[in-house]
Amino acid sequence: MRMTERQISTTVLVIGTGGSGLRAAIELAEAGVDVLALGKRPKSDAHTALAAGGINAALATMDAEDTWQQHAADTIEESYLLADPRTVEIVTSGAAQGIDDLERYGMPFAREADGRISQRFFGAHTYRRTAFAGDYTGLEIQRTLVNRAALLGIPVLDTVYVTRILVNDDGAVFGAYGFDVETGTRSLIHADAVILAAGGHNRIWRRTSSRRDENTGDSWRLAVEAGGRVRDPELVQFHPSGIIEPENAAGTLISEAARGEGGILTNALGERFMAKYDPERMELSTRDRVALACYTEIKEGRGTPNGGVWLDVSHLPRETIMQRLPRVYQTMLELQMLDITKQPIEIAPTAHYSMGGVWVRPEDHSTDVPGLYAIGEASSGLHGANRLGGNSLIELLVYGRITGRAAAAYSASLDAQKRSAAAVQTARDEIDALLASDGSENVRALQRAIRNTMTERAGVVRDEQGLIAGIAELDEIEARIADIGVHPDIAGYQDLAHAFDLKSAALAARATLEAALARRETRGCHNRSDYPATDASLQVNLVWSPERGVEHEPIAPVPDEIAALMREVSTVGKLVE
Ligand code: FUM
Repeated sequence: MRMTERQISTTVLVIGTGGSGLRAAIELAEAGVDVLALGKRPKSDAHTALAAGGINAALATMDAEDTWQQHAADTIEESYLLADPRTVEIVTSGAAQGIDDLERYGMPFAREADGRISQRFFGAHTYRRTAFAGDYTGLEIQRTLVNRAALLGIPVLDTVYVTRILVNDDGAVFGAYGFDVETGTRSLIHADAVILAAGGHNRIWRRTSSRRDENTGDSWRLAVEAGGRVRDPELVQFHPSGIIEPENAAGTLISEAARGEGGILTNALGERFMAKYDPERMELSTRDRVALACYTEIKEGRGTPNGGVWLDVSHLPRETIMQRLPRVYQTMLELQMLDITKQPIEIAPTAHYSMGGVWVRPEDHSTDVPGLYAIGEASSGLHGANRLGGNSLIELLVYGRITGRAAAAYSASLDAQKRSAAAVQTARDEIDALLASDGSENVRALQRAIRNTMTERAGVVRDEQGLIAGIAELDEIEARIADIGVHPDIAGYQDLAHAFDLKSAALAARATLEAALARRETRGCHNRSDYPATDASLQVNLVWSPERGVEHEPIAPVPDEIAALMREVSTVGKLVE
């Protein structure tokens, strides 16, 4: 017997209740447009709450010389020329307004004694331009947006798992389908436009800064099944500092703020090894370099007993640690009973951020599918092959505003909306089929198998042999997925949600492996030991879809005004073995 199905209608549906989804929903509600936001986890605990060290805008509160143009130049340069210049310009020139919006909503930024917003150094920025709230910046932003959304009366259903975006015979969006993870009740949601804000895919590695069941590649699967494509899936940011123990929290982030405030990195021999890799910027080098440096130290036998390196802040004044790194302090006490004011932290690279994502246009983040938009970590274009820390939080504010407006305008432009009974039936049948499946393969075990493959075959350093082996392993895992058992029980429908997460993870893994194989060069985060040099002919984005595989997409030229502020991208110290 079919579970109850409820029908809901709205003008714009937002999938995801993290920072980007809420910011877009706020823009719509402020304009008087009907909006509904759906999430698969509690809105107060969306992944944005984990973002730690800060948010970038050239406010010039600390360094008067800073400009949005310099911020743009830093972003493009450190993307290894793979960022889309128009996207970068939109984000960096709109960043101050993004911060103003947050202040208007009540965000408690850290301030100097005279009331200016404080800004700290983050890796590879020319100036101090990272605003913050201790190292709980994302949590404060999420709280601020949740409060603002509540004030505006935005309906948020944060137990609804979206399984499909509904597309009519003309290929345009008309809503989405899903189920409640607690009750199993189905939802058929009709909407003029859909904004996809359901995160990236970094949970498909074993050591990751995402928690269980978040960033499982949902956005990519939903977009691709609706007719969209994924740009730069291979470009995954490994953050240098994830904790190693305990096993069930491996990868938990130690914010870059620790290095921004003066933390140092040493190997097991006590050497401050960044001197070898980037003597000028040392620990404040780019993330890709610091991650590769940590990886190399460990791989070459100079690692700590548990296979890491040391990150030490114990020389900093206790007051600095308590005021500017309170989360790192608490996290280490809670997880390891380690007092960072006295002892170093054992860390290793952790999968942290999907720099690629759903293919979008720079102007409004519309996708290949009319009526479908993507923002935040779900989208692509800003980061290229290396994201500057703090750029993701500002991106979601800027594009939340833009995409909210664009989706409202799209809705207003429709004379009528065509629906498709067949598309709805396919969505219903998909859930029915999974609920009827009683195979012997375990969903959790297969999720782990994908994480093992991605960790062994597509980690910080990759090569052709490993990537080909990874694709073969994935073929086997996909064959096993056909024989899973799904058993919701009295506790809820989480098992069904995990089965969809698994499908998403498999698609995201395939896109990543295939694009990583096709990028036969080393550039930023993508280190190919068999192709250690950067190849100028690959200064393109790689766009993936199941039907067409990997295609090259040219990148627009950098405007002269920005190019004049860029330094040469140096490869000195990039030691791929
Ligand atoms: O290290 C951090 O605080 C992370 C920031 C970011 O990824 O933007």
